[in-house]
Amino acid sequence: MGSQQQAATRRTPWPPEAVLDKPSPLVDEALFRHSVISPLRYPGAKRQLVPVIESLIRANVPPPRLMVEPFCGGATTTLRLLGAGVVEHGVLADIDPLVAAFWKTAAFDAHWLIDAMRAEPVTVARWDWWRASTPRGRRERALKCLFLNRTTFSGILHGRAGPIGGRAQTSAYKIDCRFGLEGLARRIKGVAELAASGRLLDVWETDWRTAVARIPTQFGMLEPSEVVVYLDPPYVDKAQWLYEWSFDNSEHTDLANSLCSDVPYRWLLSYDDNQTIRDLYRARPGQATLHVSHRYTAAGSEKRTVKDELLVTNFDSLPESDRYRILHP
Ligand SMILES: C[S@@+](CC[C@H](N)C(=O)[O-])C[C@H]1O[C@@H](n2cnc3c(N)ncnc32)[C@H](O)[C@@H]1O
Repeated sequence: MGSQQQAATRRTPWPPEAVLDKPSPLVDEALFRHSVISPLRYPGAKRQLVPVIESLIRANVPPPRLMVEPFCGGATTTLRLLGAGVVEHGVLADIDPLVAAFWKTAAFDAHWLIDAMRAEPVTVARWDWWRASTPRGRRERALKCLFLNRTTFSGILHGRAGPIGGRAQTSAYKIDCRFGLEGLARRIKGVAELAASGRLLDVWETDWRTAVARIPTQFGMLEPSEVVVYLDPPYVDKAQWLYEWSFDNSEHTDLANSLCSDVPYRWLLSYDDNQTIRDLYRARPGQATLHVSHRYTAAGSEKRTVKDELLVTNFDSLPESDRYRILHP
């Protein structure tokens, strides 16, 4: 099957019972082998962790039927695992109304989003207009999210960051340098295909507590062992510069307490390496903290940099791997 073949689209989220059905084949499987599927550039995207998460999920039984990502942001992890067939179904959730509206529109209203994106003038004047706007409808919020994410320094949606290239646009990188229409349209169609094929079932605009509490009410037909929750909360440092909704220390503690006592599912939690988080998850029974270190070359730089991340999980089986080091238990 070629990518020329038109993928089906679906206009509404799936009813929860769809989680029991097998997804239909993907029309454009090659798209999902690309390293980046998300149309959003997201501060804190944990792209390099995806292979580690994939190997942990594959090493544990039973294979999950449903993955829920309550801090989805750019949703890199869920999109990749759905595209690769590592999990059958997924639900994305985020408290940020712009982010939630974006995913809902990309999944279930992609033609509108692509047409609207193509009609946008990518200028500093338009950037100012979107920044000042308070859109009421889901479609306009989605477009605001996409526009500002792709034209603002580091993809930051709210507050302080300015347009790529600066207000004077004297830099070599102009405001539209990350607004490549064909690439974005291809990625948005990819999200729509994950939805149309019955993989991406729904998008929730919620706080993480509500998202976790909603799993048993909506998906009570699944055994808890068939669900995996992947959580990538805001940074411990700097988050207030990046996201409208950041976390203070008490929220990091609430999340840790909730995962350790109230969440009956298998879960994986990722953080940039940080002593506060190491201490918070140390010596809790039934879970382990993995240290993952990877080298990468930042865009526009020659230098190799090392990035250290933590993955905390209650998965039973943690196979030997040179990709991570188990810190505890
Ligand atoms: C680190 S980012 C997630 C990045 C994402 N994993 C990726 O790969 O792009 C954290 C996200 O959590 C969201 N968030 C912050 N507080 C939240 C809360 N209380 N409940 C749900 N989402 C929240 C933010 O809006 C942001 O999108």
